[in-house]
Amino acid sequence: MAPQREVGVGLISVGWMGKVHSRAYQSIPVVYPELGITPKLVIAADTSLERIDYAKNVLGYAEGTQDYREVLAREDVDVVSICAPNFLHAEIGIAAAAAGKAFWIEKPVGRGAADTKTVQDAALKAGVVSSIGFNYRHAPAIEYAKELIASGKLGRITNFRGTFFADYSSEPKGALSWRFTRELAGSGVLGDLMGHLVDLVHYVIGPVAEVSALTETVYAERPIAQMGSGTHFDIIEDGEMGPVENEDYAAMLVRLSNKAVAEGAIGTLEASRVTVGKRASYNLEIYGTEGSLSWDFERMNELHLALDRTGAHVGYQRIMAGPQFGDFSHFQPGAGTSMGYDDLKVIEAKKFLQAYVGTARDNSNINDAYAAALVCDAAEQSVATKAWVSVDSVPGTTAALKLRTPQTK
Ligand SMILES: NC(=O)c1ccc[n+]([C@@H]2O[C@H](COP(=O)([O-])OP(=O)(O)OC[C@H]3O[C@@H](n4cnc5c(N)ncnc54)[C@H](O)[C@@H]3O)[C@@H](O)[C@H]2O)c1
Repeated sequence: MAPQREVGVGLISVGWMGKVHSRAYQSIPVVYPELGITPKLVIAADTSLERIDYAKNVLGYAEGTQDYREVLAREDVDVVSICAPNFLHAEIGIAAAAAGKAFWIEKPVGRGAADTKTVQDAALKAGVVSSIGFNYRHAPAIEYAKELIASGKLGRITNFRGTFFADYSSEPKGALSWRFTRELAGSGVLGDLMGHLVDLVHYVIGPVAEVSALTETVYAERPIAQMGSGTHFDIIEDGEMGPVENEDYAAMLVRLSNKAVAEGAIGTLEASRVTVGKRASYNLEIYGTEGSLSWDFERMNELHLALDRTGAHVGYQRIMAGPQFGDFSHFQPGAGTSMGYDDLKVIEAKKFLQAYVGTARDNSNINDAYAAALVCDAAEQSVATKAWVSVDSVPGTTAALKLRTPQTK
């Protein structure tokens, strides 16, 4: 067994993501014993006393506090998970960087690109490691799709289509959580789901260079939910109503930059939080001159692949993710035994911790968060101006860039 290195973990905010990050840290010695990293859950912060109790008594943190600054001040905390609502990301991200802590922060980083930029500046200035909650990147089928595209197997990528459709607010009496107000969340489904989709496009085929967008708010008001109780999936009967201040649906036409693997390719990207029927259908289809593929998170262990243009076998093959795809073999010994959402967070934790100890740099980083935020901001600007909006390129991302010597099939 590899010698073990203890890494002290601080958690800020014990909601859904706080729980998922904590489970991910706890899984590291079991799923990746060869890393020799043992996360130690030191202290968790939340304004809700009930959630602090939960962090200590159920998740296993040694201590709890209502003030996140206590987490950042601790010398025995090496890395911090920032799982707070969006409006706190900039303040906490900047404070974490100033305290010299590596941080794993949830997406979107802040309420828009301006917030994200302040965290990016602070992290780059302090030289601390950052990782972003862009979990769909780590799906083994997505890692394999990325390899296929980079190796030229699909030929020249001409176009792509992504739909991130969720039903978490399809019920009109669905809770008005912090996600629905400008002050607490920033944009609506653009930051919440479209940012994930944009990051997938950046990761697998390359950076977006220009955007034309439309958005729509389907439900103008909803029953108010209290911060720190329940989830944004809750339905509230007879509650006091409050206004929805951001969009439920967004659509974009995008063109990739000439630096992308798929230079100049065109795509349509849609996101909705109010679809009826599509539950968490996060779908990406990519079309090339030699083949195409499609993936959907609702069936995240499958990749649909078409590589023949002529002959009897034209059409899609359904491939099950297995040990030869991404990190699959760390979870299951054979294809067909499915991985799930929480496993993607375990992979994310691994990439973050490896970046922290300096053994690998394949984590998403604060530059990736800024790049995705710029695209979502451009969409809002396009809606306001009814015009195409250009997106600046961001140095230091992990976007799929054009190979110097392009390979073909
Ligand atoms: N990567 C993903 O797939 C994914 C999924 C869900 C949420 N998220 C992101 O994770 C973040 C958190 O979302 P969530 O669903 O876990 O939220 P949540 O509402 O479940 O939890 C938020 C927690 O923050 C706490 N909080 C509020 N003010 C605080 C303060 N001042 N200090 C400390 N804690 C405070 C609340 O009490 C609550 O416990 C958001 O940015 C969201 O966009 C990402």
